[in-house]
Amino acid sequence: MTKQERLQKVMANAGVASRRKSEELIQQGSVEVNGEVVKELGFKVSGGDKIKVDGKLIHQQEKRYLLFYKPRGVISSVKDEKDRSVVTDYIKDINERLYPVGRLDYDTSGLLILTNDGDFANKMMHPRYKVNKTYIAKINAIPKKEDIAKLEKGIKLKKYKAAPARVKVLSEDRLKNKAIVRVTIHEGHNHQVKDMFDAIGAKVDKLSREKYDFLTLDGLNSGEYRDLSNTEVNLLLKNTKNL
Ligand code: URA
Repeated sequence: MTKQERLQKVMANAGVASRRKSEELIQQGSVEVNGEVVKELGFKVSGGDKIKVDGKLIHQQEKRYLLFYKPRGVISSVKDEKDRSVVTDYIKDINERLYPVGRLDYDTSGLLILTNDGDFANKMMHPRYKVNKTYIAKINAIPKKEDIAKLEKGIKLKKYKAAPARVKVLSEDRLKNKAIVRVTIHEGHNHQVKDMFDAIGAKVDKLSREKYDFLTLDGLNSGEYRDLSNTEVNLLLKNTKNL
């Protein structure tokens, strides 16, 4: 962490307590920054500052951003009550507590960002910023032109109307009555792509996310991850600003 952040936020990120509880701790005089008790809630700290809570030094987390190739059959969560495999099971040698930016279904594979930067995650997921996500769907039908047109126009689903999608049929197998379709959407409703195909009478047999804004899975195998570079993180944030 290099930029200045509010003390209570840094405490919450370090896992001391919730932000609210951290505020109480500050007001109670339990928090010291570089040897001085700080009771002011707006107090800003940066990575080099030594923060003690009740005399115990807290470990400030570095901001981490990983691009993960999620395999099929893994939950987009940090733990699962049924003890199924979760994305963080794949992350080794990283001390920060990371969580996924949005979700991919259990049976969906592909590009998932993991981070401990809550502001970044919120920006990426906020509908206002319209980050493009591209999926490859294997469906059990040959879509008609008018069905594709419906998806492109914005199809009405049970609970909402999906925004216009970019759609391209990549291949068709008329013998097996199956097709592979590339779909780009900027929303992120639960099961959205599956529901969009369902609305044109097609079932998605397999789904993978190939692209997230400009990021691709190039160079990664299923289950692998890499750090995003500063340039990539900044470009993702910059792109949200331009929207
Ligand atoms: N749409 C879906 O239906 N599932 C996903 O995992 C992602 C988008």
